Amino acid sequence: MKIALLPAAGSGSRMASLTPKQYLDLAGKPLIWHTLAALARVSELDRIVVVISAEDEWWDGFDWSGFKQLEVLRCGGASRAQSVLNGLLALHAAADDWVLVHDAARPCVDPALVRQMIQELEHHPLGGILALPVADTLKLADSAQQIQHTHPRDGLWQAQTPQMFRVQQLAKALASGMGPDITDEASALEKLGLQPKLIMGSPWNLKVTYPQDLRLAELILAAGDDQETK
Ligand code: C5P
Repeated sequence: MKIALLPAAGSGSRMASLTPKQYLDLAGKPLIWHTLAALARVSELDRIVVVISAEDEWWDGFDWSGFKQLEVLRCGGASRAQSVLNGLLALHAAADDWVLVHDAARPCVDPALVRQMIQELEHHPLGGILALPVADTLKLADSAQQIQHTHPRDGLWQAQTPQMFRVQQLAKALASGMGPDITDEASALEKLGLQPKLIMGSPWNLKVTYPQDLRLAELILAAGDDQETK
């Protein structure tokens, strides 16, 4: 069994908006609608599960009836890692089911890339993540926003999602390693000395974080629609 789990319990504090970013309008639909539409096209996924906050007042205001396999869990936590862990514990999945954790805030993920990732990882002993090799030169800043030094970028990758692991192994890693340093699923497994696989991601798979990212996401989605109609 393969399950997509979307943490969507964040408040989106960097978006300067009262509406959590997963519900901001993107091409006439809430942002997370596009994320769900992309994952719904991955036929290998048996379940698609969204984790929202118990206090979420937005979800019920939208029409989700177009999504057949969609399940909603109102068990979000104070951090992304806690939302994922709460979701895993509420899934009632088998220990060795695969879970693909995907940020609700990455609406432009390419279904073909997710399928490819599943093919590459489904016989892997641990699992892995989509990621991109760092292209820019990296600077470490001091508190006055001056450059302290240039950090070598060799071997550095930027983590994306989905991140694909076994349900029980990921839940145990998150439960034992919970802390501010756990900003994705892979980091919880790394803390146990394990080495998740890096699968080449895509620059289009951006995470909507700042207001200007919405415009970029809209352009990427429009370009994708264009391709499909050709
Ligand atoms: O804030 P950030 O962009 O890192 O959030 C990544 C994803 O994690 C988003 O989809 C957000 O809704 C989710 N999240 C969550 N629970 C939190 C914080 C973030 O599910 N407490």
